[in-house]
Amino acid sequence: MSSTVAARGLEDVIVGPSSLTLIEGERGKLSYRGYDVVDLVRHSTFEETIYLLWHGRLPSGAQLQEFASELARNRELPNQIVSMLKSLPKDSRPMDVLRTSISALGLFDPDKNDPSREANVRKSIRLLAKCGTIVAAFDRIRNGKEPIPPNPVLNYASDFMRMLQGKVPDAEIAKIFDMCLVMHVDHELNASTFAARVTASTLSDVYSAVTSAVGTLKGRLHGGANEGVLEMLDIITTPDNAPTSVKELLANRMRVMGFGHRVYKTIDPRAVVLRELSRKLGERVGDTRWYEISRKIEETMLAERNLKPNVDFYSASVYRMLGFPKDFSTPIFACSRVAGWTAHILEQYDNNRLMRPRAEYVGPRGMKYIPIEQRGVI
Ligand SMILES: CC(C)(COP(=O)(O)OP(=O)(O)OC[C@H]1O[C@@H](n2cnc3c(N)ncnc32)[C@H](O)[C@@H]1OP(=O)(O)O)[C@@H](O)C(=O)NCCC(=O)NCCS
Repeated sequence: MSSTVAARGLEDVIVGPSSLTLIEGERGKLSYRGYDVVDLVRHSTFEETIYLLWHGRLPSGAQLQEFASELARNRELPNQIVSMLKSLPKDSRPMDVLRTSISALGLFDPDKNDPSREANVRKSIRLLAKCGTIVAAFDRIRNGKEPIPPNPVLNYASDFMRMLQGKVPDAEIAKIFDMCLVMHVDHELNASTFAARVTASTLSDVYSAVTSAVGTLKGRLHGGANEGVLEMLDIITTPDNAPTSVKELLANRMRVMGFGHRVYKTIDPRAVVLRELSRKLGERVGDTRWYEISRKIEETMLAERNLKPNVDFYSASVYRMLGFPKDFSTPIFACSRVAGWTAHILEQYDNNRLMRPRAEYVGPRGMKYIPIEQRGVI
């Protein structure tokens, strides 16, 4: 092996080709299949964006209708999964429940032993459709209520809110949530997508690859950051407290969740959209406190460290104002990102080579084995 310097955290390492998502970090631009995500957020929907990502082109009206109703028809969970959800400890974290349920769902998939492309697409549809149902059902169960079955007439965003909160949200609220889902659909080779592709590259199955991804997204340096943002908002409580609290965190060499990014050298474009949604939503619900605290944190981080918010920062206040439980920000992220993970898994299978990197060995060499009785007391 030629001697190479290891790239810590694989920074800037190109692992392979992909035609799904482009991040232009210097310009703060993100596009799926060549379409600017800001345009998609404004003009498209979650269902249409998934179609675009999976098929590489925008659908016709008839194609979109067929695709959306296929997704909707697949939202219902097998009874055994509902029973399993009821048997889990009530204090389980929803991300752990989602990870375990996705793994279990694989056992019930009628195509589980078929590795063909067609079967993998069907598995992706079933999996994507069911994630929201799992997360919403678990919240009902842990609160002593019966899960609400899906209603295929509604789109994903409205039905998720209905299954969670017990009523169909008004159209404006559902639209804001739909925009959030569009924004989280894919993000090139982030840690969880990379984990999914590594698993797929061994020719393991779709469910295993998505299970790997959910476990990876959970960490606080990745998707788990938005829960950290909510914890911070709860501690800060008023905009006036924000500068002191943030400076204290920084003085203690703590990371402020929701700031910084490995690839964006300027602001994450999704944070710009979410900041505006946070403001609008605050005005609409008559409580702009979470937006105002967030703005103060943002100003302080810019002044102190020149660090800008990423997607997780303003999504935290948006999800709070949409009425989602505190530990739901990351599972909701996962419910959308499963579209990206499955697109990457399919792309990996289409042009596969086993991912097997090397380590830069820095340990001792040539050690002589000493029999145990000659080693003395350590
Ligand atoms: C996302 C993240 C892991 C990317 O970081 P990275 O490219 O690996 O950059 P590094 O961890 O090498 O950090 C570079 C410097 O910026 C600082 N930094 C980066 N993000 C920071 C943050 N959110 N708060 C405080 N300092 C931060 C680091 O402490 C480091 O400073 P140092 O050189 O003085 O030690 C990092 O910004 C972070 O931890 N953010 C908070 C978690 C988060 O929001 N994750 C969601 C990402 S979408």
